[in-house]
Amino acid sequence: MTARMIDGVALSTQTKEALAPRIQTLKEQGITPGLAVVLVGEDPASSVYVRHKVAACEKLGIRSWLDRQPADITEKDLLDRVKVLNADPAVHGILVQLPLPNHIDAHRVIETISATKDVDGFHISNAGLLMTGKPLFRPCTPYGIMKMLESEGVNIRGAVACVVGASNIVGKPMAMLLLAQGATVTICNSKTKDLAAHTRMADILVVATGRPAMITANMVKPGAVVIDVGINRMPDGKLCGDVAFDDVKAVASAITPVPGGVGPMTIAMLMVNTVEAAERFNHS
Ligand code: GUN
Repeated sequence: MTARMIDGVALSTQTKEALAPRIQTLKEQGITPGLAVVLVGEDPASSVYVRHKVAACEKLGIRSWLDRQPADITEKDLLDRVKVLNADPAVHGILVQLPLPNHIDAHRVIETISATKDVDGFHISNAGLLMTGKPLFRPCTPYGIMKMLESEGVNIRGAVACVVGASNIVGKPMAMLLLAQGATVTICNSKTKDLAAHTRMADILVVATGRPAMITANMVKPGAVVIDVGINRMPDGKLCGDVAFDDVKAVASAITPVPGGVGPMTIAMLMVNTVEAAERFNHS
């Protein structure tokens, strides 16, 4: 078997284009959706991600602000900056790019973002709403993965899903979204014993560990749908996922490539969340 390639670039383009009429309607009502992106420091990967986010806004006619802050900004100054953005009616969505420098408590920063502007869906009240089945903003990467599964016609109800990686950004919200759609979900982490025993049971395998090519063909159930969230920069400069792509594509029924898989969908869903934030603001 050679797995079908799940094209995240095409689906993200389609998802973003579908926003155009909604943005137009808002503009006719005098509202331009606005996203503030805060980047602390000069981390090269974060700088690239943030640039893609701002470029996507520009292309869609969403107003964006790239708020660059020095790596040595104090926590208090960063919190004050977030509070200014919370109070600005032109800003409908606020995103603070993670990771933050060690001297800053990322939890405190996220909890300071107004929950109604938290387009990342990381605020505890948004995490709680997701867990209790009434999401306001779904975190962009898992949300994008659900869209990919939907567009591929993957049956989730009753499926066995395994999420490898238990982060607040991807693994935990991913598990909640799959559970809400009726999957039986296992979340694995770095302490999991006999990881392969878990991954091999999965009809849907989502991998978000940051460990290059850690999932090999013998860890995948034949016919599984494999979603690779990893974006690892290798010493030769090439990007590599968390899944050994060439190996696993011979076993899976469908697989996301890296690059061109989950990454573009994360950005598309950020645009969706920002437009939703502006629409809610308009009706509040
Ligand atoms: N760092 C890695 N992924 C993300 C994301 O989706 N949002 C933010 N804010 N930071 C990240």
